[in-house]
Amino acid sequence: MEAFLVEGGRRLEGSLRVDGAKNAVLPIMAAAILTEEEVILEDVPRITDAMHMAEILTILGCDVEQENRCVTVRSGALHGWEMPDRLSKQIRSSIFLLGPILSRFRKATVTYPGGCEIGLRPIDLHLRGLRSLGVEITESGGMIHCDGSFMRSGDVYFDYPSVGATENVMMAAVLLSGMTTIHNAAREPEIVDLQNMINAMGGHVRGAGSQMIEIEGVRRLHGVRWTPMPDRIVAGTLLAAGAITGGEIELTNAPAADMMAVLSKLREMGCVIHEEPGRLVLSAPERLSAFAQLQTQPHPGFPTDMQVQMLALLSVAQGTGVIMENVFENRFTHAGDLNRMGARILCSGRTAVVQGVEKLYGARVTARDLRGGAALVLAGLRAQGVTQVDQACLVDRGYDHLEDQLSALGAKIQRINV
Ligand code: UD1
Repeated sequence: MEAFLVEGGRRLEGSLRVDGAKNAVLPIMAAAILTEEEVILEDVPRITDAMHMAEILTILGCDVEQENRCVTVRSGALHGWEMPDRLSKQIRSSIFLLGPILSRFRKATVTYPGGCEIGLRPIDLHLRGLRSLGVEITESGGMIHCDGSFMRSGDVYFDYPSVGATENVMMAAVLLSGMTTIHNAAREPEIVDLQNMINAMGGHVRGAGSQMIEIEGVRRLHGVRWTPMPDRIVAGTLLAAGAITGGEIELTNAPAADMMAVLSKLREMGCVIHEEPGRLVLSAPERLSAFAQLQTQPHPGFPTDMQVQMLALLSVAQGTGVIMENVFENRFTHAGDLNRMGARILCSGRTAVVQGVEKLYGARVTARDLRGGAALVLAGLRAQGVTQVDQACLVDRGYDHLEDQLSALGAKIQRINV
């Protein structure tokens, strides 16, 4: 097992370039099988979720080449429609393959996907969306069997704007003749990126970024060379690292326009942020001020994937603040470890009340999910003494060598074997 060892107390300074977004890359890798031609993806972060997705595609018969940050997918020899159990349990995003596989084979078999342990994360919306397109779905022995023999375009309505379900239905519909309309679609920027990539392959999708997405079916898609959008959550985490250490950092290739909610909260905490297209410069006060309240919501609201990092920041801010988690039901699992480091966080259900303390103290703590692990590293950067964050592998799911990125900004952090 690997862990991060963080020596706290250093003010971060410097400049970093933000990588391609995990949440854009994963559905885009799945969309690569919508064509038999070559799909070349550039600026792909070296994160384990993307590696697992590549492994699943390979097992299904694709030829996947990874060289540095470039991933090439050729799916001409794709033969499988059954998702490998072990891998699909490892990443939740394997569910994205359901739409594209159905599109290619008109049948698919999957198991319930895995991913971060941050809540129930059912897939009922994905399945209901596909049923609206005429897919027959049966479940037996823990497997979900999808029969798309009678698939057709149509209207899909989501009770809740699920990101993954919106993307899945988009990919399932792109090669169906006629018009599919998704109502109450999720509006996350990564969905816009997926739409733009599909359109660059010859698709006709419009409306992504709004609540209604229209997909006019085309007969075929062709290959493409695509650079996924930069990662707004990694960018937010790096800004939070600057903020918690009273630092001054610049990010290039940052999707500033998609980060309004996070930037606004950091400003409320006393940070000065200069933004221009593709560039952000943050300058933090020595001690942050608590915001009164933060509520997570679907985009353009405050992203749940940045909630726990803000919990770490609030822990050392001046004053008391409240965080409400409205998207997932189990996302305060790191409050206990933050409290062990000296924080004063009281959680009840989906609400956390945080009374800021002046100091955190290094401790041995454990990442329980991707973003929570990153938040513990942030707390370690501020803490007095040494913090060991176990289960670095969970952080590696979505951050490309976080220790190198933070070291480049002057942090004292290393990866160790334990
Ligand atoms: C995506 C992101 C993830 C982010 C989340 C919310 C990717 C690869 N992952 O996950 O980082 O935290 O959006 O912004 O893009 N739900 C159901 N039934 C379903 C599907 C979802 O009840 O069929 C619920 C979930 O349990 C959760 C909420 O809807 O409470 C949001 O989930 P969803 O938007 O689907 O998130 P993901 O696509 O899994």
